[in-house]
Amino acid sequence: MPSLKEAIESRESAERQTVQVGMGDRSYEIRIARDLLDRLGEETSDLLTAGAPAVVVTNDNLAELYGAKAIAALEPTGAERHLCVVPDGETHKTMATLGQILDFLVERKCPRQTTLYAVGGGVIGDMAGFAAAIYLRGISYVQVPTSSLAMVDASVGGKTAVDHPMGKNLIGAFHQPRRVVMDLSALDTQPVRAYRAGLAEIIKHGVIRDAELFEVLEKEIEALANRDPLLLAPIIRRNCEIKAAVVEADEREAGLRAILNFGHTLGHGVENLCFQSGMLHGEAVSIGMAGASLIACKMGLWSGQEHQRLKALLQAAKLPVAIPPLDTDALKDRMLRDKKVFGKKLRFVLPVRIGEVEIRDDVPESILLAAIEEMKD
Ligand SMILES: NC(=O)c1ccc[n+]([C@@H]2O[C@H](COP(=O)([O-])OP(=O)(O)OC[C@H]3O[C@@H](n4cnc5c(N)ncnc54)[C@H](O)[C@@H]3O)[C@@H](O)[C@H]2O)c1
Ligand SMILES: [Zn+2]
Repeated sequence: MPSLKEAIESRESAERQTVQVGMGDRSYEIRIARDLLDRLGEETSDLLTAGAPAVVVTNDNLAELYGAKAIAALEPTGAERHLCVVPDGETHKTMATLGQILDFLVERKCPRQTTLYAVGGGVIGDMAGFAAAIYLRGISYVQVPTSSLAMVDASVGGKTAVDHPMGKNLIGAFHQPRRVVMDLSALDTQPVRAYRAGLAEIIKHGVIRDAELFEVLEKEIEALANRDPLLLAPIIRRNCEIKAAVVEADEREAGLRAILNFGHTLGHGVENLCFQSGMLHGEAVSIGMAGASLIACKMGLWSGQEHQRLKALLQAAKLPVAIPPLDTDALKDRMLRDKKVFGKKLRFVLPVRIGEVEIRDDVPESILLAAIEEMKD
């Protein structure tokens, strides 16, 4: 990989970037540039089957802005186009909404050659991707992420899912997209809080795999939080490279891919208990990373100084690092119900130095409980 610092300094960054995800005959390309949504037809016409429809799935918050734009941009392909609009938000990442998408496809008699376009944040990407995985036993789809989190994480790697009342992402499938088209200009309209939540997964990638990225973030976090266009392209590209490398090595999470769950053991527990109150996924992951860091510190895996460094970066990104008032037993119960629990043991991804983590299922309960109490608001 070329140095990230050099890429930022050379200002090559504003230009179009591509990242390959190598998965044999299911390999695909991630394309990153401003205004790509306007060119969605040209960018993906080679994937379409003549005579088969293109279905854009989006939510009611983005339909007017990006859904309509995607439909217009697909005109040159000559495909019959449909816009499927579902309700916005994590609370609608459900079997019921998935059913709406499937009904939409069935009612229009969409054939197996149909291509789905997931236009939106991680919720739309996960849900439309899952619909594509199971409709007629699988149709092809394109990820068109519009949120920071979806660009750096959710749109790459082929994990698709909906939530269940008992936990997040409990029902899903692995199904790789045929292409990922990232229009950086879409980030201009993302509300600041949601945009910042996406920075949590960027920081995660730095901690698990890339000390250089972490150092760049420490220096540039304010500019990144302000969406400096010269930083966005190289940083998003680097995040895609990291995610692609992990997914290429371990698509189905038999081992290495689990490191991407750094911050998600405690994070999913907090998110499950708090998402009705509007907590965002990235915010819960931020709290989860601060928690995993504190646990690692208490277990002597990494130093208090490294813990402070990570916490300072999260706080500089204006992300939460404290657990909101909630019942510790309920939180433990939620974590134990998470699908990443093996047997009855909680599995944590713990940092050992910036850029390297370990997967551990031997965190003593006393340390976990002490960390939770210490982190409460
Ligand atoms: N599949 C994976 O590998 C993976 C990885 C990480 C996260 N996820 C999932 O992603 C979801 C979180 O994604 P998210 O943070 O994008 O949430 P989201 O999809 O709910 O988007 C956040 C909010 O921003 C709005 N929005 C998105 N783009 C916008 C834009 N350009 N302009 C204006 N508003 C915009 C959305 O409508 C929504 O209200 C979670 O469900 C999480 O489980 C999946
Ligand atoms: Zn996540």
